[in-house]
Amino acid sequence: MFNCLRICIHNYIMRCYGKCVNIYSICEKCLFKVLFVYKFYCLEFQKRIYLFNITSMIFKSDKKRIFSGVQPSGNLHIGNYLGAIKNWVELQDKYESIFCVVDMHAITAPQDPEMLRKKTIEIAKIYLAAGIDPRKSSIFIQSHVSEHAELMWVLNTIAKISELDKMTQFKDKAQKTGRESAGVGLYDYPVLMAADILLYDTEVVPVGEDQKQHVELARDLAKRFNSKFGETFIVPEVHIKKEGMRVMGLDNPEKKMSKSAESIYNRIELLDDVETIRKKIRKAVTDSGSEIVYSDEKPALKNLINIHSSFSGKTPKEIEAIFKGKGYGDFKADLAEVIIAFLQPFQEKFSNLSDEDVLRVLNDGKEKVRKIAKEKMDEVKKRVGFVIIK
Ligand code: TYM
Repeated sequence: MFNCLRICIHNYIMRCYGKCVNIYSICEKCLFKVLFVYKFYCLEFQKRIYLFNITSMIFKSDKKRIFSGVQPSGNLHIGNYLGAIKNWVELQDKYESIFCVVDMHAITAPQDPEMLRKKTIEIAKIYLAAGIDPRKSSIFIQSHVSEHAELMWVLNTIAKISELDKMTQFKDKAQKTGRESAGVGLYDYPVLMAADILLYDTEVVPVGEDQKQHVELARDLAKRFNSKFGETFIVPEVHIKKEGMRVMGLDNPEKKMSKSAESIYNRIELLDDVETIRKKIRKAVTDSGSEIVYSDEKPALKNLINIHSSFSGKTPKEIEAIFKGKGYGDFKADLAEVIIAFLQPFQEKFSNLSDEDVLRVLNDGKEKVRKIAKEKMDEVKKRVGFVIIK
């Protein structure tokens, strides 16, 4: 009987540790001790499997996954909030959510390294202050997960120059330097964005309208890869919420509000102080006439009413009714206060967050998403024929 037990223990140790132990040299007294320990391990092992199953049952999510990001390339404005971050906050309960600070995208334009580091942390703080809850959503920095760059390279091999030539954002941004002097990174920017999205089996991408063309490229690349190498990627859907999808510049209603616009009077920044907000709204361009009407013929006023509506929750019709018989001055004064009523508590939350708190959240986020990214990248490597040594 002891021999039989000895063989069992021997096999067990061999299996667990891959080591050869001369079990016949153990005396019977010690053998009982070993058996006791063995039994304890079995129970522990069972307990762990049980706990693992329970935790996976609790935490395994059957929610659809969303992914989105913001570049730390300037000062975030109410366009970024209304077009993207506000929707993320609403969606994080319904979807498994991953939000990224896309620092690798930011360096497609020249950045001061110290400023880039500062802005990266600032954006993560903005996510938190705006209501992204790290218990519900993963927040991380793009450059912390190297699989983004790896997948981008693979996708580069199937993306076409003709596709990238069509990208309006590249055309706009390359205008400054001229196409010939524009960086390859700027040109390839949409492929990196496709990698961000496809790496996480993202089903829904909540963005402002200006990013629609980029998400469409991600869809095309997913389909092309799948048909060439076999089903690997989910084909993502773009999610654009009608209100806030395109906040226009306060100085020019023909162009979107932008972090990179030269004039500070183009945008209300999320960290602007109260007096600056009032001043910027006072200086916002308006159309001819003095009536508060919501119409395509008055694009500047329409933009301001849209902003009012997004922050106050009132419909454009209700806003028209409130300001019937009143002029631009009254409307603008109220608009400034509506924006301030949102931004003041937001800014308070922002300034209560320490860098350490945020770095902790970013580190946890990285740990969570890295596993997903690695698994997907391993699958991609297998599909394309790379040798993998375990
Ligand atoms: P970025 O940093 O330019 O803008 C961040 C988000 O803000 C939205 N947005 C606006 N929405 C309404 N009105 C505006 N005036 C306005 N300006 C900006 C943008 O649509 C965006 O949703 N390429 C992206 C970042 C990115 C990304 C991704 C997004 C990188 N990888 C993967 C989604 C999924 C960008 O430049 O965003």
